[in-house]
Amino acid sequence: MEERLLMVPGPTNLSKRVREALSQPQVGHTDPEFAKNFSETLQLARKAFRNDNGHQFVFTGTGTVGMEAAVASTVEAGDKVLVLNTGYFGQRMVDINRCYGADVDEIGSGFGLHADPDTVRKRLEGGRFKAVYVTHVDTGTTVCNPIADIVKEAKNAGVFAIVDGVCSVGGLELDFDRLGADLAFTGSQKALAAPPGAVLIAVSKDFFAQLEGRKDKIRTYYANLLRWKSVMDDPRTYFATPAVQLMQALNQALKEVEEEGLDRRWSRHKSNATTIRDGIESTKSKLVVEEGYRADTVTGIWTDPGAAPVIQKSLREEYGIDVARGLGENNAKMLRVGHFGNLTEKQASFFVDSFAGALKASRSA
Ligand SMILES: Cc1ncc(COP(=O)(O)O)c(C=O)c1O
Repeated sequence: MEERLLMVPGPTNLSKRVREALSQPQVGHTDPEFAKNFSETLQLARKAFRNDNGHQFVFTGTGTVGMEAAVASTVEAGDKVLVLNTGYFGQRMVDINRCYGADVDEIGSGFGLHADPDTVRKRLEGGRFKAVYVTHVDTGTTVCNPIADIVKEAKNAGVFAIVDGVCSVGGLELDFDRLGADLAFTGSQKALAAPPGAVLIAVSKDFFAQLEGRKDKIRTYYANLLRWKSVMDDPRTYFATPAVQLMQALNQALKEVEEEGLDRRWSRHKSNATTIRDGIESTKSKLVVEEGYRADTVTGIWTDPGAAPVIQKSLREEYGIDVARGLGENNAKMLRVGHFGNLTEKQASFFVDSFAGALKASRSA
């Protein structure tokens, strides 16, 4: 199968070395070599989050399992929580919290708009909340929330701060230790450029300590961080069989993140995002998110009504580029373009030229 340029908001194209790691002979998950490889993966994951001080978890499961682990770790039935519902994944966080019996309050923001730290502060003043949940980049609307200010408000109010970093970690600044959040998670398939299927979770020491002391038991079996802790401490321990090849591929992807260096990786993402956004705006197309809150990992573009599928098809068939469309009611009038992982400057420019060509063709069709 010929490889296309994957510019959907995850998964992303894999490097040759990551693909090779996927096709190694099968080994058992208790094999000493695998355990060694996994211990290294955990250290590399710490670096990708800049998590020197807290606990680090990596296990099989998608980003949604990270959401469940976060909620199950935070909520005891009846606890009041605040979810900043800035889009599709904010809504998912509301739903998961309700599944676990939380009394959910939410701050909605309007499509493509960011969460406002002042509004968060005022809402927190008015109630006894246990936690605030914020999505760093909502992949549905492509908005990037000001997480540093939001986490600060949560901590000032003495409330847990939980960050969904699925569409950010490895692609734009999220420095876990400096941020001061209690828990942040990502999935393997986005800015880390590994295949889908692994969840990576950074947890502060204080947050983990309260988990150990909790009266009400954690109401999930698989996504229970207390159970996973013994595997993180000694990867030869069995809790649930890891997706061995995926973990080996993640190890390689994280090595490549380390080789590039996080700061340089964030700069590359910023510069590619600028190229792409400038290129799109030069066609007179409108970006979904206002300046200042646009993500360096994914961009939303408004198209003429009905034009999104036509442009998407043309990009795929004429240029070999896959992009995604808007979700729900925006399906035919919005495109979502992922620009994270291994995307090069040359590929970002190729996208800009291809987009202009596909747009022109859609207008003359
Ligand atoms: C911001 C965000 N959170 C959570 C998820 C859920 O991750 P997954 O699809 O890997 O379960 C996604 C997936 O795109 C996401 O973009």
